[in-house]
Amino acid sequence: MSNIIYIGKKIPPYNKTIEVSSDKSLSIRTILLASQAMGISKISNLLQSDDVLNTLKTIKKLGINYKKKRNFFEINGYGLDGFKKKNIIINAGNSGTLARLILGLLVKNKSKIKIIGDKSLSKRDFSRVTEPLKLFGANIKTKKNSLPVEIEGSEFLRPINYFENIGSAQCKSAVMFAALNTPGITTISAKKSRNHTELLFKHLKIPIKIKFKNNRDLIEVKGLSQFKSFCYDVPGDISSSAFFIVLTLLSEKSKIKIKRINVNDSRIGIIKILNKMNSNIIFKNKRTYKGEKIADIHVQSKKNLISINCPSSLNSAAIDEFLVIFLVAAKAKGVSKFNNLGELNKKESPRLNVAIKFLKMIGIKVIKKKDNIKIFGNPDLFLKGKYCVKNFLKDHRVFMMSCIAAVTFGGEWRIHNKDSINSSFPKFLKILKNLGADIK
Ligand code: S3P
Repeated sequence: MSNIIYIGKKIPPYNKTIEVSSDKSLSIRTILLASQAMGISKISNLLQSDDVLNTLKTIKKLGINYKKKRNFFEINGYGLDGFKKKNIIINAGNSGTLARLILGLLVKNKSKIKIIGDKSLSKRDFSRVTEPLKLFGANIKTKKNSLPVEIEGSEFLRPINYFENIGSAQCKSAVMFAALNTPGITTISAKKSRNHTELLFKHLKIPIKIKFKNNRDLIEVKGLSQFKSFCYDVPGDISSSAFFIVLTLLSEKSKIKIKRINVNDSRIGIIKILNKMNSNIIFKNKRTYKGEKIADIHVQSKKNLISINCPSSLNSAAIDEFLVIFLVAAKAKGVSKFNNLGELNKKESPRLNVAIKFLKMIGIKVIKKKDNIKIFGNPDLFLKGKYCVKNFLKDHRVFMMSCIAAVTFGGEWRIHNKDSINSSFPKFLKILKNLGADIK
């Protein structure tokens, strides 16, 4: 089957309720934590995408059995450091979260484990996790700070004091996972980033203390405290919703309700940014589930979008959504400014550079200085030409962002690497077609 799609028409008006895929961060974290719990955990509504299936394959390779039941997975953990298989190779595929977090769980595993990944993951930096993990006492080798990474755990671990200064939830979580198998108290001073791991630790009654001081999270984890198996029902992913939020804002006379989404404060930067740009995105039916906030998201089409001078303090809570936020800036009145976005170039593809090339291709003026960009919006943006997106690194979010641009801005589009959506959101195209998009 061809891996290219063609779009030549804008999406007609719609008024629909949708459900997007389950949250990827929570899916990966709950599987990995279930692998360290004592007994059988049940996880329902697990995201069924390649990144999550690779997480299941990983724990299986490490000797943890799981069973797929109708709407849930049972994962049979043997407790902390309960991995049984030795000297294996783990293929993390496209998933930075899996590759970095599993390293945290392997600091005590006394065999050699090699982690590999696909072309995109192999270009990404791993020293950001291997350096702190070495301080626990694990033996780790990398190839020029990238994959393949080889880890050999140690019996003689010591807790560390870790100063996290990127704002990376993956780094923070890898260290928290290593702390689970380490005697004593590991302390972390972290720049703000998504806090799912902290909330799960609290829910599982793993000894954790969290304070917020001088704009940083101060986290203490007491290790070697066995926790019990658990049940978890994974809510919808705000990062997958983002494509339909922006689609609806930029379409004509349309409305959407997106059900049961995780609207954790550390994830809703996109909502805060778009509402500052004059949209009116509303949460209804708000509730709390095991520490996480859940709501239905309501959005309608919006004319008169305005530019933003985006506060960098929102960067981490919107880190996976900037590609679509830039589409809104392209259509807003005025010049939008986004600063300190260097981390975007360290994702599945160099997304800041990719976005600039993309915006220029559709005729939007962009100025980049260091890690800051200015986007000169055009409220009359209406495309007529032919556009092609090659997406060489098969970045799922680049593919989906391109589809949203195509069905809202017009023009004739050829977009490559459809299969990339399998990393995070396999049903993306099905939902887009159900809303009325004409995609071949
Ligand atoms: C993630 C954290 C973020 C995000 C990624 C998922 C997580 O990465 O971009 O898609 O689940 O912890 P960083 O930790 O590199 O910022």
